[in-house]
Amino acid sequence: TEAAAEGLAKGLRPVVRPRRLRTTPALRRMVAETSLEARQLVLPLFVREGIDAPAPISSMPGVVQHSRSSLLGAVAEAAELGLGGVMLFGIPGSKDATGSGAIDPAGVLNLAITDVVAEVGDALTVMSDLCLDEFTDHGHCGLLTPDGRVDNDRTLERYAEMALAQADAGVDMVGPSGMMDGQVGVVRAALDAAGHTDVSVLAYSAKYASAFFGPFREAVDSSLVGDRRTYQQDPANGVEGVREALLDVEQGADLVMVKPALSYLDVVRRVRDAVDVPVAAYNVSGEYAMLEAAAAQGWIDREPAILESLVSIRRAGADIVLTYWAAEAARLLRR
Ligand code: PBG
Repeated sequence: TEAAAEGLAKGLRPVVRPRRLRTTPALRRMVAETSLEARQLVLPLFVREGIDAPAPISSMPGVVQHSRSSLLGAVAEAAELGLGGVMLFGIPGSKDATGSGAIDPAGVLNLAITDVVAEVGDALTVMSDLCLDEFTDHGHCGLLTPDGRVDNDRTLERYAEMALAQADAGVDMVGPSGMMDGQVGVVRAALDAAGHTDVSVLAYSAKYASAFFGPFREAVDSSLVGDRRTYQQDPANGVEGVREALLDVEQGADLVMVKPALSYLDVVRRVRDAVDVPVAAYNVSGEYAMLEAAAAQGWIDREPAILESLVSIRRAGADIVLTYWAAEAARLLRR
């Protein structure tokens, strides 16, 4: 009938049209819910003892192990691009069972902190990884018991010393990343007792025993055999990630982090909703390597894929994103 035909025609003409807000670039820009800005990005950087030119990392094309002097060029560029900060990792010339190089004021990471702070001053937040794995000959994030297990409480003493060494070197923010129970409280107390009350703590709170850290192990010449499943979290656990973040806030964390990012966006969201401090997420080495490898094959459009990855992490709830693409993304965002 005619009435039926009219009804059908009406039904085919939607009244509500979400596409209207997607019409022009200006309109899309105006209604975008999530921003991606250079100030929200943190660039992880590797500095290696005993080299005088940057050394490429084959599993992370475009990322290098810096020499002490090439590191300064990278941080100057990061400052010029308006990044939020840099996260420094050190690769010592020699390792031992207790990771002495981490505490030595003349250790590569502590020297690099002082160099970087002198280079950039207040223009960037200078952060350092507070973990033993780069410095131990067994590659674990803590000290071992005689029977080879990671000794939580003896490791905490070592982290306290490491925090002081980094604070004495001038760092703005330490990033305890070893997933020992109580690490944030111990680091905070050690810093405060030594008068470093202004040094802040970015807690790697929900850190998973992830295969996506693979390329990082090459980046830091890791000696690890086996895995970190007795201290890093089971990828199956989301509630536990929230619990870890809440515990860290209780212990004095100024910011909390979820790591990796892309396979854990639900955890990022849950943590964002559960805490009242800034939340960071670490877009890790394996996430970087996967996209770079696909792009190198011509299988994925590199630049939009980078920006889409980063904006997804922000949309999930991360205020801050640690990413090896930080400098490049900042450059892309300028255009
Ligand atoms: C521990 C640490 C790791 C990463 C950052 N800090 C490695 C690990 O836990 O095995 C991984 C970073 C990445 O994969 O990009 N010092």
